[in-house]
Amino acid sequence: MKSSMDRRSFLKTSTAGGAGLSLTWSRVAPLLGTAAVPSFVRAAEGRPALLGGAPVHTGGWTRWPQWREAWATDVLQVYRSGKWFRGSDKHVEEFEVAYANLLGAKKCLATASGTTALMVSLHVLDVDAGDEVIVSPYTFIATYNAILNARALPVFADTDPATLTIDPATIASRITERTRAIMPVHIFGMPCDMDPILAIARQNKLAVVEDACQAWLAEYRGRKCGTLGDLGAFSFQESKHLPSGEGGAISSMSAELIDKCNSFHNCGRSCGTNTGTGSFTRGNNYRMMQAPAVILLQQLEKLQQETAIRRANADYLGTALKEIAGITPVRLPENSRAVWHLYPFRYDAQPFHGLARDKFIKALVAEGVPCSSVYHEQYNDGLLDEAINSRGFKRLWSSARLKAYRDSFQELKGNRQVCATTVAIPQNVLLAERSQMDHILAAIRKIQAHSAELAKP
Ligand SMILES: Cc1ncc(COP(=O)(O)O)c(C=O)c1O
Repeated sequence: MKSSMDRRSFLKTSTAGGAGLSLTWSRVAPLLGTAAVPSFVRAAEGRPALLGGAPVHTGGWTRWPQWREAWATDVLQVYRSGKWFRGSDKHVEEFEVAYANLLGAKKCLATASGTTALMVSLHVLDVDAGDEVIVSPYTFIATYNAILNARALPVFADTDPATLTIDPATIASRITERTRAIMPVHIFGMPCDMDPILAIARQNKLAVVEDACQAWLAEYRGRKCGTLGDLGAFSFQESKHLPSGEGGAISSMSAELIDKCNSFHNCGRSCGTNTGTGSFTRGNNYRMMQAPAVILLQQLEKLQQETAIRRANADYLGTALKEIAGITPVRLPENSRAVWHLYPFRYDAQPFHGLARDKFIKALVAEGVPCSSVYHEQYNDGLLDEAINSRGFKRLWSSARLKAYRDSFQELKGNRQVCATTVAIPQNVLLAERSQMDHILAAIRKIQAHSAELAKP
């Protein structure tokens, strides 16, 4: 009993404090007997898994998404009732009220996806053909597409390498007479520094759409992301913390704006305060169905519980990782709380004997820790060239403007650095036991200890 308590407290200090795990264990193990040494510690002392050694973590991680048998009755009830579409029953509306309450928003509208939530938001805030929207380049491609689908130009502010979110200091210089909105992205569930962004928007009479598609329950200075700008967009796609397969929502402190969103997402039917020009305004069909709303309602409690677990594990990892040379956890804006859709850190190869980031990632994956480099410099891919070479865009902008726009991607130095150095671990890993966070730390230390050998071509 005594030795197991000693071992536990030893493990706690050795991993959290960043001490050389393998070195210290090899001193202590003979005192405890080999059987007492956890297998992950034995693996951490051995050869890297990429070079044929045993992985530090075995047995996988929590599966995602998660189904609960307890939801089956309510879901089947929807299908058995034949009331499947939004207008046939009340589940979607019930979810909207519950989600708005959870966010502290005035009102919320469920949509078919996060992309459509962004598209509806831009339309309602009068982003029109030929307009420009200042946006973070470090995001999932749907953020760019939502703007392009409005026949507007996504103009990229730079990314702050310390926070991975939009650098507010780079926004003002991007404003032209065509700019109508700013779209900050709370990437990986990390809040953007919203106060300076909102101040620039106010000064220049610009709308703000928060891309909160990865930021359910993230908080900035006491308020939830999605309630800070004019409108906030969320995604409930299968990989997300609150999943329904496909789905999304728009939140706001303005009931009028949500009524306008409702009209546009429902084929232009009038809604609440938005009577439009008669019974119809311009619109589309971006409605959520009843069954996804039922699953979403069932998961609101679960979301809150799991958010607390992810936060506690991310705090633990952050404290330990910053002690490892070459690993830099992300800085959050003061008085804000992330929800960690991915857990990112910046990787510097130098203290790893020049081990390239991609090989570091391969080595970590081989140790049983899923991770990736996430987003690359997507503006250099074909999407934006295709858009600016299209007939529509050529009609809407001068060739000089489109050339200057294309050239401006070269100025995104912060974003380039972020794309080249970030490593991120998916959210389901953060739902594991605290002891398994030690596996992640042990795996990174093992890679560092063997980095000279791993770095060889
Ligand atoms: C930052 C961001 N914006 C927008 C979206 C689009 O959401 P959806 O896939 O629900 O359309 C996503 C989804 O992954 C996202 O991560």
